Amino acid sequence: MAKFSHHLFVCCNQRSATHPRGCCDPEGSQTLRACFKAELKARGLTPAVRANQAGCLDQCELGPVVVIYPQAVWYGGVTLDDVPRIIEQTVLQGQVLDDLLIPDDRLNTKFPKPSESTP
Ligand code: FES
Repeated sequence: MAKFSHHLFVCCNQRSATHPRGCCDPEGSQTLRACFKAELKARGLTPAVRANQAGCLDQCELGPVVVIYPQAVWYGGVTLDDVPRIIEQTVLQGQVLDDLLIPDDRLNTKFPKPSESTP
């Protein structure tokens, strides 16, 4: 079997609504992962590209979080509407989407979301 070209790890972690860090899948529905899976299948990209369920990726304040390996591209604030362009532009064309990218200097920090930052 050929190697995987991309693994998309989609955080499906669920926490209580009162948890201070929040979570990427408050309803526990795995809707975002399901959307990635459907898009990959529709484009005939499986099995070389996989969308895996991930537990907490420890970037909760920036979620919903998706990380793509082996490219190590981290995306935050991912919505269902972002799925087609992530597949098209990042997986197929190798482009990084700047509006979703979690910069290296924000990984593994607990900074507030940009919208919550003070000017
Ligand atoms: S809950 Fe998704 S990164 Fe922590």
